[in-house]
This record gives sequence, C-alpha cells and structure tokens, in this order.
Amino acid sequence: MKIIGVLTSGGDAPGMNAAIRSVVRTSIYNQTRILGIKQGYNGLLNGEIEEMNLSSVADIIHRGGTMLRSARCDEFKTEEGLKKAINVIKIFGIDGLIVLGGDGTFKGANNLSDAGIPTICIPCTIDNDMGYTDYTIGFFTAVETVVDAISKIRDTSTSHGRANIVEVMGRECGDIALYSGLAGGAESIIVPEVEFDIDEVCRKIIQGRNRGKLHHIIALAEGIGNAYEVAKEIEEKTGAETRVTILGHIQRGGTPTAFDRIMASKMGNKAVELLLSNESGKALGIKCNELISMDLDKALNTKKEFDKNMYDIAKILSI
Ligand code: F6P
Repeated sequence: MKIIGVLTSGGDAPGMNAAIRSVVRTSIYNQTRILGIKQGYNGLLNGEIEEMNLSSVADIIHRGGTMLRSARCDEFKTEEGLKKAINVIKIFGIDGLIVLGGDGTFKGANNLSDAGIPTICIPCTIDNDMGYTDYTIGFFTAVETVVDAISKIRDTSTSHGRANIVEVMGRECGDIALYSGLAGGAESIIVPEVEFDIDEVCRKIIQGRNRGKLHHIIALAEGIGNAYEVAKEIEEKTGAETRVTILGHIQRGGTPTAFDRIMASKMGNKAVELLLSNESGKALGIKCNELISMDLDKALNTKKEFDKNMYDIAKILSI
C-alpha cells in the first residue's frame, strides 16, 4: 500500500475534517503517500486529485464542513461511472481508498470494493441513520446545535405562551429529534418510527396550559411530513398560537463536539491501519463505546433500531 486516496461524499457532517486530518497524518506517519480527492465521487470521476501533506490538514480539527468538499454524484451510480472511477484510481496509482459519508456513499464504496479496489468506510452523517453503528460522526454536533436552538425558542415560547414546533433533519430517522428533544426538555417528540397521535400532543398542550405552563416545545423530525399542517391542526384543536421553526442546514455546520472529533480521529487512524494490513470492504463504527469494523455488505444490511426506551423516558419526563 504505497498510495491511499481519501474522499468525502454526500451531505457534509461536522467532524469530517477531523477524520481527514487523522487519515492524512496516520498515512504519512506510516510512510504512505496520501491523495485528497475533491468533491466526492464527482472529483474521482474528473480526476480532481491532489497530494496532501502534514500542513494540508493543519488548523482543521475544529472546523465544520469538509476541506475536501462534497457532492452527491449520480454518474457514479451507473456502471459506466464505476468503470471510469476505477480507471482514474489506476491512473493515479491509488492502492486503497478511504471514503467518508453516509449510506449512499457506502453503497458506492461497496461497488468499488467488489470491483477489487481496497476500500474502507467511515460513517459521517448528522442523521445517525446507520444501523450497524451506535453513532455516526456529526450526529452529536447537530444535536448540540438543535438543543441550543430549542433553548432559545423556549424563551420566546414562554414570553408569548405559544406552542413552538422545531423541525429537525434526519431524513427517515428520528434520532436528531429524539436526542435533542430529550436534552432540550421538549414537551412532545414526533418521529417517523412511532405512530403519532395529534390528540395526545394537543392534550399535553391543554394540560400544560391548565397548570400554568407557558411554553410548549415540539421536536418534530422532518421525516414526519409537513410541520405547518401539524401546526394548523394544533391551533384548531387547542386554540394555542403555534409557530414553526425549520432549522435546516444550520444543523450541518459548526465546530464539531469533542466526541465527534475523538470518534473521527480514532476512525481515521483505524481506516489507514486496516488498509495497511490489506483489509478491504469494511465499515468502521462504534458499538458500546468500542471501535468496530464490519463487512460493508453486512453494515449496509443492518437495520437501524429506534431507541424506544429513550423515547418513553422523554415522554415520562415531559408529563
Ligand atoms: O443526510 C443529511 C441531510 O442533512 C438530511 O438530514 C437532509 O434531509 C438532507 O441531508 C438534506 O440534503 P441537501 O443538503 O442535499 O439539501
């Protein structure tokens, strides 16, 4: 393994930079050249590839985003695209690839691995929607951002005696809503994994109002549907003035938490070690606080379990 390539693909996640830094420095420490591939699989297809050195990754451990930039690439999903990518990999003499991203990114990496390119994946997505790992890099930073927003919205919610819906990202996964709802003391958490009963939400608003509660925060996962329709129904059923805040891409940026940086540093290091010991087709993850590596096929087929126990605790604490 003389030359390793690294790329970030799909939606960016805070902590990607810390992982890139770890990959680059571990490679150089092991006397292996490291090439940075720009803009994910797009840059791979277009040969946007540059040699990296120790200074390329100086001063980035604390920065959100990805210094390699990212993209979603439809061409790479085609057979032609895969062939082109393999060709570029050969032209640049890349012996192994480290790929950072979510499940779409992992699927592409799995195709490369099946085609004989040694590939290791690091889970980076704010959604925490990958079943084989307890956490993905970027998730806890996004949760911090949401908790901060909930605390601010709670102030104005109290001042006006309103119900406030905070819509968070996560695609079909409710983890951002669940974790930030629990940490932010939300009165209701609405996620795709649990059937939602608007009457229960309304009952809580009325009960809270009757005991003098002024604020009412509803953490709602984007996968549930239209937040404005939920707000309208709440207003009609309770008479409570209801506002919607869609947090959007603010959740994708910002300085990564220490936890995300540590996880990224460990996984970046491990990814290089695995390539150096001739491993391929592996996904790195964290299970019960231990770093794990799993076959990509298996990782991609592991169903994400929703933490119903945590959801129930949040419900109890918000009575
Ligand atoms: O997967 C990360 C994510 O931020 C999702 O939570 C969200 O649904 C989606 O990406 C937004 O995608 P884009 O940045 O392409 O608008």
